[in-house]
Amino acid sequence: MKKGLFITFEGGEACGKSTQVQLFKQFVQTRQDKDNFVFIREPGGTILGEKIRDLVLNFTQDSPTDKAELLLFLASRAQIYTKVIKPALEEGKIVVADRFYDSTVAYQGFARQIMPAEEILALNKMILNSLKPDLTFYLEIKPEIAFKRKGESSLDRMESEPLEFHQKVYEGYRFMAEKEKNRFAVIDATKSIDEIHNQIKQKACALIEKYYKQK
Ligand SMILES: Nc1ncnc2c1ncn2[C@@H]1O[C@H](COP(=O)(O)OP(=O)(O)OP(=O)(O)O)[C@@H](O)[C@H]1O
Ligand SMILES: [Mg+2]
Repeated sequence: MKKGLFITFEGGEACGKSTQVQLFKQFVQTRQDKDNFVFIREPGGTILGEKIRDLVLNFTQDSPTDKAELLLFLASRAQIYTKVIKPALEEGKIVVADRFYDSTVAYQGFARQIMPAEEILALNKMILNSLKPDLTFYLEIKPEIAFKRKGESSLDRMESEPLEFHQKVYEGYRFMAEKEKNRFAVIDATKSIDEIHNQIKQKACALIEKYYKQK
């Protein structure tokens, strides 16, 4: 089964996930083992998944009901798990994801309250054959501070939700960070982009070196 390493980036809107994944990706390009890394984003990452991403985030004609939204996210995950993540890990690759199932617990569980967190975790377990990330960078920042980072650009369906929605997202991440402490690296996302990048680089490299030694 799983041989590789699975690293995820999580956090609420505008906490800096994509900025940090991008910087980490640039750093990886300087490494000799760069071909050993696979970067993915959720929802998306497969042809079907990208269509689902568009439906979930931008389809305003008939926006999905809560349960439809949950199942669309999970459908995208089932697809990327089987087609991309599982084969890459079996080859011993290092998979890096911008969002994963902690987002589902935070958004669909805590914020939308579609199902209890435990049930959302059970659905994910079914889809992922119990796979969990080895390391999760959780970029923690209060939503009222993070939102000041968003410019005037048009907001997608999640981003347009009121502040209390995002406060519940924050609580959801806190819940997961407590529940699966061992894989969580909680990062203070109010720090500068460079400072955060250096922290992430250090932690990720330590894990990667350990992984190569054990191989
Ligand atoms: N540490 C930081 N300090 C200040 N601004 C930041 C920091 N990190 C990112 N930003 C800025 O905040 C904005 C949002 O960053 P980014 O898109 O990386 O967030 P995200 O977590 O990927 O958001 P989303 O949830 O919408 O995908 C960008 O304008 C980015 O330049
Ligand atoms: Mg992003």
